[in-house]
Amino acid sequence: MRKKPEGLLSRVLPSTITTWGVLQLCLLVVALLLLLRVSQLLVKYSSNICRLQCFAQPPKRNWLLGHLGLMRNTEEGLQSVDELVKMYKHSCAWFLGPFYTLIRLFHPDYIKPILLAPASNTYKDELFYGFLRPWLGQGLLLSNGEHWSRHRRLLTPAFHFDILKIYVAIFNKSTNIMHEKWRRLVAEGHSCLDMFEQISLMTLDSLLKCTFSYDSNCQERPSEYIAAIYELSTLVVQREHRMLYHWDWLYWRTDEGRRFKRACAVVHQFTASVVQKRRATLHQQGQSDQQPREGETRGKKVTDFIDVLLLSRDEDGKGLTDEEIKAEADTFMFEGHDTTASGISWVLYNLAIHPEYQDRCRAEVDALLQDHDSEEITWDNLSNLPFTTMCIKESLRLHPPVTAVTRRFGQDMTVPGTRVIPKGNICLVSIYGTHHNPDIWPNPEVCVVLPSLAVETYSMSSLQLADRCRRPHHNGPNVPADTHLCLSAKVYDPTRFDPENSEGRSSYAFIPFSAGPRNCIGQNFAMAEMKVVVALTLRRFHLVPRDSEVRRLPELILRAEGGLWLHLEPRGTPQD
Ligand code: HEM
Repeated sequence: MRKKPEGLLSRVLPSTITTWGVLQLCLLVVALLLLLRVSQLLVKYSSNICRLQCFAQPPKRNWLLGHLGLMRNTEEGLQSVDELVKMYKHSCAWFLGPFYTLIRLFHPDYIKPILLAPASNTYKDELFYGFLRPWLGQGLLLSNGEHWSRHRRLLTPAFHFDILKIYVAIFNKSTNIMHEKWRRLVAEGHSCLDMFEQISLMTLDSLLKCTFSYDSNCQERPSEYIAAIYELSTLVVQREHRMLYHWDWLYWRTDEGRRFKRACAVVHQFTASVVQKRRATLHQQGQSDQQPREGETRGKKVTDFIDVLLLSRDEDGKGLTDEEIKAEADTFMFEGHDTTASGISWVLYNLAIHPEYQDRCRAEVDALLQDHDSEEITWDNLSNLPFTTMCIKESLRLHPPVTAVTRRFGQDMTVPGTRVIPKGNICLVSIYGTHHNPDIWPNPEVCVVLPSLAVETYSMSSLQLADRCRRPHHNGPNVPADTHLCLSAKVYDPTRFDPENSEGRSSYAFIPFSAGPRNCIGQNFAMAEMKVVVALTLRRFHLVPRDSEVRRLPELILRAEGGLWLHLEPRGTPQD
């Protein structure tokens, strides 16, 4: 027998309706609401797809997965970007399953409106940046809106030229320590070293000194803090690659998630303790209440970023809290070390495989230092290394440390050709794609044709080609297809950055540090460090490539699979 509804229900519903009937009614309402929501989403989804018809859509895997998994973080993945750029010229739509749509942009005219959009309307999306949040919190890289713009204003003085000048001495010292180590290793018979490993320790050493005035001696002995930073970078990349780990609830229960938490705790504790100690010292010195003028640092000789952050005040005289300073310091440590290490490693590699440019840079450095009492590169010297600077820029073009940045917008965005990117879609600004766009950069590749047998026997270093990619050569009708191979090599040509050759080129064609309001706040710091390290390295060593293929590895930054190994030959005297 069916039960009748009881209590309040029995008073409002006719007596013929049973509890089961009420339940069924509720289920029906829930199902209808769900259906409504799903149809709303479907309508929104199909209207979005419709509006995206103005963008080219490369062939998908299938209707459900779209392009998911087609672009890998490997050498082949970068070659696929090259193909996309050649084929679609400026942009294309990319579907990551049914839920995410990316608009890939790789032409200066298309990325310009995206990068120049007001920061108040621009958001860093969680899909690409979210995994960094537990580590970097609301630091400059990840924050949005008013929080970001206040912090950007407060932090800009930390990168004022007067402050960067002080850091150049630190760059020299850290480089000297690295070179001492290299000389020792070469003397012990280890003349072939992984540049990434060596240089990232050195950039961390510099950054610890510039940020915290902390002499970790990390280039010589292991440090818990450094190990934690490495662990975090590796774990973020691992997490990106495993779809299941994208789910927070699961990730924090895995071994990797627990390791991430532990490493975060080490990094956060270190930063917190420096900030607290420094705050206490400033209080003792009675400096916390003085108001500085803009760009000034209260008459105190500034020694590191932490001091600048502790002393900075906004228009209302309000400073940053300890929590905010910690997030910014952690962000500098993350953004500043691996990127610069990648930049320097690739320049040294490009110079190693182009000895003619290496010699020309070395001659420039030798000429600069010839009447100096010391081997130190000063701030003023940095503007007197024009060819070396061109080589660094060409390397940042060919091997940009950050290969792409992404943005979401609170409103529709218009790009040339009256194409509209509907609000909510993710815009992926491909720095790598723009830097490799043949419409912008003439002479992007050479094709070296070799008999296929010769490819196996040819010494790789004597080929001296960057980013080799073996492709079947279109030999034409009279040449048997299997007798030749085309080695397509990217052209490393520093003279692209000769002021004469740069005329008429869009300023959005070369964007290793991004551009617009959310560009890299540390770009002058990074360029100064790169110049010091490259100049001193060429002054003291000859660089020779290893006889093996280099495969690029685009992770959080652009690396090389298995490291980037170079032979080092110490110079006896600078005249060598
Ligand atoms: C060769 C070295 C470097 C490269 C190629 C580089 C590249 C970039 C790029 C492309 C962005 C934009 C990121 C985005 O929009 O998601 C960025 C942002 C940033 N970079 Fe760098 N960077 C370098 C060195 C540094 C250094 C040395 C520091 C600090 C000491 C630094 C601090 C930052 C910060 C804080 C941001 C966020 C800025 C904001 O959103 O307002 N970077 N960097």
